Amino acid sequence: MSKVVLSYSGGLDTTVAIFLLKERYGFDEVVTVTVDIGQPEEDVREAEERGKKYADKHYTIDAKREFVNALMQLIKANGEYEGYVLGTALARPIIAEKVVEVAKKENADAIAHGCTGKGNDQLRFENVFYQHGFKVVAPMRELNLTREWEIEYAKEKGIEIPVTKEKPYSIDENLWSRSIEGGKLEDPTFIPPEDVWEWTKNPKDAPDEPEIVKIDFEKGVPIALNDEEMDGLELIRRLNEIGGRHGVGRTDIIEDRVLGLKSRECYEHPAATILITAHRDLERLVLSRRELKFKRFVEEEWAELVYYGLTNDPLFDALNAFIDKTQERVNGWVKVKLFKGNVTPVARYSEYSLYKPELTSFDTTLVDQRFAEGFSRFHGLQGRIYREVMKRY
Ligand code: ARG
Repeated sequence: MSKVVLSYSGGLDTTVAIFLLKERYGFDEVVTVTVDIGQPEEDVREAEERGKKYADKHYTIDAKREFVNALMQLIKANGEYEGYVLGTALARPIIAEKVVEVAKKENADAIAHGCTGKGNDQLRFENVFYQHGFKVVAPMRELNLTREWEIEYAKEKGIEIPVTKEKPYSIDENLWSRSIEGGKLEDPTFIPPEDVWEWTKNPKDAPDEPEIVKIDFEKGVPIALNDEEMDGLELIRRLNEIGGRHGVGRTDIIEDRVLGLKSRECYEHPAATILITAHRDLERLVLSRRELKFKRFVEEEWAELVYYGLTNDPLFDALNAFIDKTQERVNGWVKVKLFKGNVTPVARYSEYSLYKPELTSFDTTLVDQRFAEGFSRFHGLQGRIYREVMKRY
């Protein structure tokens, strides 16, 4: 008896995979695992129904807590790769760990996933599976399948799948972001039709009145929305709803995958855009010029490790230690204005603010301006000398 545990989203690739694992790989038993990371509840329910119907055994596992914790660290890191808010990337290792737990419990011979050989998700998943010593099976990659072929195959076998040839997008959705790729979107000259967007209103149809939202942070983590304290899960859900209504958080980018392939990606992520905009604004009030400058490099490395699925690298721990140190003072609040697809910080406060109006103001004499003269005499000195020297040649 050979048994395989399949990371199961309920979508086209993984549903077809259940059948291929038996038919082409000869596994006797397929166990599906759906991990809840805040995708729409009906998606989880549908995956569960389909898993129970087509696999020998099914597990649904709630990892929303773990995902929210990881997202709080992402906010501290202003996590973003080439303009992408990293929703899928951050979720993959968390899903993989849960799948491993089941595979151990079930004494499975292998772990399977539905990732293709062209994307990033295979790398993020397998890094975790190999870490735990599992054999990996990747039918989509190994059999070199196309989505067209899978749709045909499902039809032949009478497998019900949630994709049609007319709307053949590959969608990945969780609490943080919704990504839409494939189909006609693969042509970068093609403007995404309105029907690819589900979380966000077209900004032209958004309310004509701006809305101001207040977010409180403690140690860089959002803790309250409009003065109401709430946990991260609730806060992100509410902001997705509010931001979506204002058409906030749509992205259409050309992205560099780990393998070097470029791809055209559309994303929706209202809460991510609002929270990171607000968090960055508060940091500008609290962190020193040099901290801000250095943190930008740290953030870029951090985001790349997450994108590459390399969060097991010791560098990741070291970067997080730096980030946490800077966030000790990122307490306070920011008000942002949501209007027709835009998020604009309009007010901010922190007890750790390095901004002192009594020093900066045009209207005070606390700082004796005359002291600046000496500073100014040295400032730019080398440049002035250089210009003089060059005149001679
Ligand atoms: N390009 C994004 C990433 O690499 C999104 C991937 C979405 N995955 C998917 N199977 N549709 O994280």
